[in-house]
Amino acid sequence: MNIILLGPPGAGKGTQAHRLVAERGMVQLSTGDMLRAARTSGTEMGKQVAAVMDAGNLVTDEIVIGLIAEQLDTGAKGGFIFDGFPRTLAQADALGELLISKGQTLDHVVEMKVDDDALVARIVGRSTCGNCGAVYHDVTKKPAKDGVCDVCEGTEFKRRADDNEESLKVRLMAYYRDTSPLIGYYYAKNLLKRIDGLGEIEEVAGRVSGALEA
Ligand code: AP5
Repeated sequence: MNIILLGPPGAGKGTQAHRLVAERGMVQLSTGDMLRAARTSGTEMGKQVAAVMDAGNLVTDEIVIGLIAEQLDTGAKGGFIFDGFPRTLAQADALGELLISKGQTLDHVVEMKVDDDALVARIVGRSTCGNCGAVYHDVTKKPAKDGVCDVCEGTEFKRRADDNEESLKVRLMAYYRDTSPLIGYYYAKNLLKRIDGLGEIEEVAGRVSGALEA
């Protein structure tokens, strides 16, 4: 089963994708994570996208489609979770063509709906484990032991350069302008499932599972 998690910044796409990886053996393809990895390893592409990402703007379609195309070649027994991709109609068209070329299908697109005020609170409180990438929040998802990652016991936590109110406004604008048309695009293809992304993480996970089984 191949699925897209669609939603604004902070909707909980990464959080729910991590759960699906652990529970169903799916493979998460997050273009945001891939771009951040390119920056950390200092590739030419990573340097090229750094300022664009920090300001909250979208990276070019060409770059992100190339990243996804490389990953699709690796295959995934449990299926792929597309997290943060596609984000434009051009990317959605390209994904459709790539899947057809690999003899694969897209099974569900889950739109996670969260209001803007909640998104701000989620984004400004987010941190991730510097070792394994597990996602935490200062209020809603603290590690069980203060300063120690629940998953790998790492003790270094990071905050993203674009997780501030100013960049978030630009990211939200990009979402409403470029990404929200995908809701109608996938509705027309009978693939769209809409869920409420507000509530406890476990509660939202139950809604995601329900959408995938519907
Ligand atoms: P990307 O990394 O994809 O960021 P994003 O879409 O803005 O999404 P986030 O990762 O911020 O949020 P999320 O929905 O995963 O939320 P999370 O689960 O972490 O993209 C970053 C940048 O890369 C873009 O701005 C762009 O420049 C570039 N880029 C990436 N892909 C691109 C593409 N396809 N095309 C062009 N450019 C691209 O949760 C957030 C917080 O909330 C966490 O602290 C979490 O613990 C907490 N939380 C989660 N669920 C709940 C809940 N139910 N209740 C309370 N708190 C919760």
